[in-house]
Parts: sequence; C-alpha cells; structure tokens
Amino acid sequence: MAVDAIRKRRSIRKYEDREVTEEQITQVLEAARCAPSWKNQQTWQFLVVKDAEKRQEIADILEGNPARKGIAQAPVLIVVCADPALSGVENGKEYYMVDVGIVMDHIMLEAADMGLGTVFVGWYDEDRVRQALGVPDQFRIVGMTPLGYPAKEPKPIPRKELDELVHRETW
Ligand SMILES: Cc1cc2nc3c(=O)[nH]c(=O)nc-3n(C[C@H](O)[C@H](O)[C@H](O)COP(=O)(O)O)c2cc1C
Repeated sequence: MAVDAIRKRRSIRKYEDREVTEEQITQVLEAARCAPSWKNQQTWQFLVVKDAEKRQEIADILEGNPARKGIAQAPVLIVVCADPALSGVENGKEYYMVDVGIVMDHIMLEAADMGLGTVFVGWYDEDRVRQALGVPDQFRIVGMTPLGYPAKEPKPIPRKELDELVHRETW
C-alpha cells in the first residue's frame, strides 16, 4: 500500500458532499494507532468531529487558512493532540511533534489508499480551537485534517530534486 499511497497523496482542500462511514474512520484511526513513537509512549489522542456546526466553527477560527473551506465541507475532521509531558526531549528536540508528524502521515497515507482526501492543517489559533473543542490544557493541538472524498484531484506540488537534498559520506 504505502508506496502507491505516497505517490498519489495530495493535500485536498475541496471535498464532495458525501458521507464517510464509521468503518472508514476506524480504518484510518487504526492506521494511526500503528505509528511508531518515542519510547512507544503513544502520546497522541484523536478527536473526531462530525457535527457540521462544530466543523463550521473550527473553519471560522481558521480564517485566512487555505484549508479552511475543506474543514467545513468534508464530513469528518480528525484533530490530533499530544501530551508533551509523556514524550521525550533530547537536545531541545521535543519528540511529541515528531510522533504526531508520523501519526498524521499514517492517517494521510491510509486515507489516500482508500480514495479519501486529507490535508495536514497546522496553522490556527490553538487557544480558540482548544476552547471550541474542549481540549484539556495538558494537550497540545498539533494538527488536524478533514477526511472526505476529494472534489478534485489537485496537480502534484513540485519537490526539490534529490541532488539538492542528499549528502554522501560527509556534508
Ligand atoms: C506540518 C504541516 C502543516 C501544514 N499546515 C497547513 C495549513 O495550515 N493549511 C494548509 O492549507 N496546508 C497545510 N499544510 C499542507 C502543505 O501546504 C502541503 O503539504 C504542501 O504544500 C505540499 O503539497 P501536497 O501535500 O499536496 O504534496 C501543512 C503541511 C504540513 C506538513
């Protein structure tokens, strides 16, 4: 699955008005649950929002964010939170951010494999989202994604060439 899904995944910001089943949501969350994490602490928590008014409220908070409309359109919003106290900090690197990055990738790739769209949304007023969703203070709201059927398949966004990125033996 992974290789095909890696190639076909795009950030989806427009969604069809079409339901996603509980089974599909569970399949995506099961993929998330398999993600590796710092000392296997699994510091993440997932908040699934289906209520249309609540999604609209979150979309309103995200004014200016290109993913905003998709949050109101897609039938499901998955919000990924993490407890930094459960995770490690080494050399100033806070690993809960890495853990959630991996979890989000599992979500996005599993969804792509199922023909569903997602987009990692990381830019928002965290305090306002916290208040709207009742997330306890101990958790950071690291990211969220709509989950639904893509209304259109966007063109691939360019990537740097490997020769700009890869060093061998020494830098
Ligand atoms: C950590 C992170 C945060 C992001 N935050 C947002 C966001 O707030 N809004 C948005 O529209 N896209 C967001 N994106 C999506 C990126 O813009 C997108 O992945 C990038 O442009 C490449 O496009 P592609 O995913 O279609 O390949 C985010 C992506 C990552 C990894």
